[in-house]
Amino acid sequence: MNESKNSVLKNPTEQMLDESTMTSFDHVIINANIATFSVQHGFGIETSDNVDNQADSNPYGQLHHAAIGIKNGKIAWVGTQDQITAHLPKYQASQITDVNDKWITPGLIDCHTHIVYGGNRSNEFEARLQGVSYQDIAAQGGGIVATVIATRAASIESLFAQSEKRLLALIKEGVTSIEIKSGYGLDLDTERKMLTVARQLGEKYDIHVSTTYLAAHALPPEYKNRADDYIKQVCEWLPILHSEGLVDAVDGFCENIAFSTEQIRRVFEVARSLDLPVKLHSEQLSDIGGSALVAEYKGLSSDHLEHLSEEDIKKMAASNTVAVILPGAFYTLRDTKLPPIEALRKHQVPMAISTDCNPGTSPLTSLLLTMNMGCTLFYLTPEEVLAGSTVYAAQALGLSNKGKVEVGCDADLALWDIARPADLAYQIGLNPVQGIMVQGQWRDTI
Ligand code: NIG
Ligand code: FE
Repeated sequence: MNESKNSVLKNPTEQMLDESTMTSFDHVIINANIATFSVQHGFGIETSDNVDNQADSNPYGQLHHAAIGIKNGKIAWVGTQDQITAHLPKYQASQITDVNDKWITPGLIDCHTHIVYGGNRSNEFEARLQGVSYQDIAAQGGGIVATVIATRAASIESLFAQSEKRLLALIKEGVTSIEIKSGYGLDLDTERKMLTVARQLGEKYDIHVSTTYLAAHALPPEYKNRADDYIKQVCEWLPILHSEGLVDAVDGFCENIAFSTEQIRRVFEVARSLDLPVKLHSEQLSDIGGSALVAEYKGLSSDHLEHLSEEDIKKMAASNTVAVILPGAFYTLRDTKLPPIEALRKHQVPMAISTDCNPGTSPLTSLLLTMNMGCTLFYLTPEEVLAGSTVYAAQALGLSNKGKVEVGCDADLALWDIARPADLAYQIGLNPVQGIMVQGQWRDTI
């Protein structure tokens, strides 16, 4: 812990230290250690690039003996404990949270999930343990299509109840924002049902939900050998669901066992016409050029990426597309091909990590375990996996006001009983969360 860092950081809110400002917050968090993930506090600054920067490079953008002022659900001030101490008598006790040197991070963000689905596929898990491959199961009518049948059959209430458990497991580990995909409906009504449940989950639990239209996930049985006809439908459904306020982004599965780049391009064209951002399941099982396509459309993220080439990494770097790394699917499928982490670092492609929670390849509802897997399986650093669950996960969802402890950002925070940020990636199975704050409000129970 380098406690001298605070004194060398230029506090961007220094000019705001007058009495009226410092006594105007709705709430203050005091005696905190903070992993800010904010460039303003030195996160992500290379020492060699630092000539003109005001802040030194500082792992996690960490601050010690620090405090946060919150107003109207936003972070209004971040500074040292000394700066706020004299003003505390002006606050009521209920407006102050003394965290006693515990750690605050941005609320965690799970940026790639399929948590809304019906049924489960533990039978396939057993078959895979007997040596049947994921591709073979899909070819035999199992896999994604099995979940499609169960999801179509579920009532909206049942789908909500089945999915809610998964969301709660994530929230209990500090998640305050989540992306939820459709893609187990593959017909208009069921895609609508999934996206509606995703919106309902966000409303009931009052956390941020980004919805993603993933009808180009698999070929439904009724379109067997008619993939182009199905893509035509996918393109026609998108404007309908978008007009109903159900779609924040558009995704597809670009793979030999799913859709070609040309088919995905047709979906992306519709997305572009609606001003919707795109992302893609790319290079999971083979390299057929999905990430290059995402980069061409200046997509938010390209996800999975085990088979990604350096040439396409350069294209992602140029389009500022986030690489979303999904260790849960790698682990569950016993994959052996590692994603090209070193090349992604070399070309400074921002990396996010996510559970990819889904019933087939990643039945995983722990973002903390995902962080540990990212380090152990892919040699990511604890700082990288935490940044990948906060600031870069926010970027993967186009949420520039989340994922950082920085003035102007949403006051979405998590409080942890840990000695240092790396503990979040190091400990397996212990949940050190002490509370979450969403838009400036602590949750009573999580
Ligand atoms: O992200 N790759 C495609 N889609 C999911 C798998 C879905 C499933 O098997 O149900 C994924 O890994
Ligand atoms: Fe996925």
